[in-house]
Formats: sequence, C-alpha cells, structure tokens
Amino acid sequence: MELESVNDRKAEVQAFDDSKTGVKGVLDSGVTKIPPMFHVKSDPTPTSPADTNFSTSQFPIIDLVDISKNTTQRVEVVGQIRSASQKWGFFQVINHGIPVEVLDEMISGIRRFHEQDAEARKPFYSRDSTKKVRYFSNGKLFREMAGTWRDTLAFSVNPDPPNPQDMPAVCRDIVAEYAKQVKALGITIFELLSEALGLNPSYLKEMDCAEALHVMGQYYPQCPEPELTLGISKHTDCTFITILLQDQIGGLQILHDNHWVNVPPVQGALVVNIGDILQLMTNDKFTSVYHRVSLRNIGPRISVVTFFLNFTMSECTSKNYGPIKELLSEENPPVYRDNITMKEILTHYYAKGLDGNSYLLSLRL
Ligand code: OGA
Ligand code: NI
Repeated sequence: MELESVNDRKAEVQAFDDSKTGVKGVLDSGVTKIPPMFHVKSDPTPTSPADTNFSTSQFPIIDLVDISKNTTQRVEVVGQIRSASQKWGFFQVINHGIPVEVLDEMISGIRRFHEQDAEARKPFYSRDSTKKVRYFSNGKLFREMAGTWRDTLAFSVNPDPPNPQDMPAVCRDIVAEYAKQVKALGITIFELLSEALGLNPSYLKEMDCAEALHVMGQYYPQCPEPELTLGISKHTDCTFITILLQDQIGGLQILHDNHWVNVPPVQGALVVNIGDILQLMTNDKFTSVYHRVSLRNIGPRISVVTFFLNFTMSECTSKNYGPIKELLSEENPPVYRDNITMKEILTHYYAKGLDGNSYLLSLRL
C-alpha cells in the first residue's frame, strides 16, 4: 500500500473507533455504500460457494433428549458426537434443556442493547479487554487489514461474574440467566465429549474446560453492499468448545471438504464447535474447523457466542495442556508438546490474529 493510503486508513479507523457507536452507527448515518475500511479484499481460501442443499441435509443435528435416563440413547448420542467432532468439528444440538423462551429473550436482549440510542451504547465502548463488560466493534481493527460488518457486546461471566450494576440494564437479567444455563449445558457436552474419547465422563471438566466463559452478543447490521465485506472473516476459535445461538437469518458457514457449507438456522437449536485447544488435547482426533459469517442485504443478524476457555482476560490458569495421555499409544504418538501453558497458547494465537489455528504448528513436536 502507498503511504498516503495507509494514513488514510488509519484516520478512517480512528474516526470510526472514536464514534463509539460501531457499525450500527455507520448504517444509521444513512450510508448506501460501505466505507473503504470494511472492504475485505480477498479471502485467501480458494473454495466453491456454499451449497445450501448439501448443508441442510447433512449438517449433523444431535438430539439430547433422555440422555441422562436412557443408556442406549446415550451410547448412540456419544457415537454421533464422536463422529461429528472428527468429521465436521461442528454439530447442532436440540432438546438440550435450555428453554426456547430463554434463547429468544437472549437474542432480544442483545438486540435491545445494540438498537438503543447511540448515547446509551457509548459509555460501554472500550478496547480494554480486561473489562468484564464491554461494547466494541472489530476487536483487531487496528491490526487487521479490513474491518468486518459486526458489533459486539462481550461479558466475562465466569468464574468471577461482573457486578449487575455494571451490566447494561436492557439485558442484565437475561445475560445472567443465559450464562448459568449455557454453563450447565457446556458441562453436559464436556461429559459427552469425554465419553466419546473413551475417558471418564468428568475428565474434561476436571481439566477446567468449563471454568471460564465469555458470552459475546454479536450484532451484524443490515449491509448495503454485502458482497464487499464479511460479518466475520475466516477463523478458528481459540477455545475448548464454543456454543453458539443464532437467529433465523443465517450466514454462518464452515469450511468442510474445502467447501463453504451453511450452518442452517434451526429453531431452538444450539451450535457446538470444537476449538483449537481441544484439537490439541485430542492430538488432532477432533478438529477445530474454519468458519466465517457471510452477509446478505438483510438484517440485522444476531448471534450469541459463548467461548469456553480457561483464562479470564486478566489472568491465565496455572494448568498446562498437551495431548491427553490416555489417548496416546504406539499407533497414536503425540504430535504436540506436553505441558504447554495457557499463556503460551494465547501468545501464539494473538501473534497470528484471526488467521485460524495455524499457530498450533508452532506447538508441534
Ligand atoms: C465467533 C463466530 C459466528 C456467528 O464469534 O467466533 O464464529 O455466527 N461467530 O456469530
Ligand atoms: Ni468463531
């Protein structure tokens, strides 16, 4: 890039950030074209466009009904989870125990925050990632080449939740309720994943996989030029697992067999995906898969993304990670180092930005 255009971009990004009203503020200013800072120049993966028929018929949907009562049913579900975690890295769950009213109200609460007056949103706007409650747009804006069409309201809800009075009044109650329920579901999923690996059901929970949760309320405003940008660019999640609630608009896509495949919205369902750290712990048996959000000229689209990590923004756990010993054998020797600190994982992750889990290569033996 020419020096002049680099400076232009810097000024544009700074003015956008100073507005403290996100992409929603840009749209509300009446633009019919998206500003240049949001132009995503190229997607580095040469792939075919998403094939809707393929995705809707084959994307794994797993029914968790009766898994705690019916052993046969549980064995079946564990098999489905094993297969989906290996082949797709993603699956949807239904009859997961979180009432549909809670899911709907959570989406509504996030919508209320992003759609209230700009003046009410501004005080929450911050790039300080140690804050337990914050509103921002494009976390890596000052490093990434292109901004994407998305605003975020983020909460660090575990192990040390924010004070209710520090949370926006329009969604405070539902965020606390959703956090409690999604944590319980996370523990159930970790039990099923442990069983799918042939381990004791409490194995992953005891590895502190459900210790720290971050709930991100993503808001993708309607986009006047959807072909020029993305809602979120191609990435993998630096988590153990992620549990995602999406509304009915659609747009989430995963890279499966080198095709972008849509994750079809299913009323009442939650989407679960394997994150980078679980890929590392399972010695690549389970895969952390690339995904992105593409846009159409409709919206807003709202999703609530819960990251299961085990660090809070200000401190890392003392637990170390590596391939799970019980899974290793002569035929399955470790491909990653042992005793990797969470800090080390995060340092490699941040050095790479939203560039997928290629950083795991530097943790390989
Ligand atoms: C994420 C993510 C997808 C979505 O926040 O990491 O992949 O549908 N979000 O919002
Ligand atoms: Ni993601």
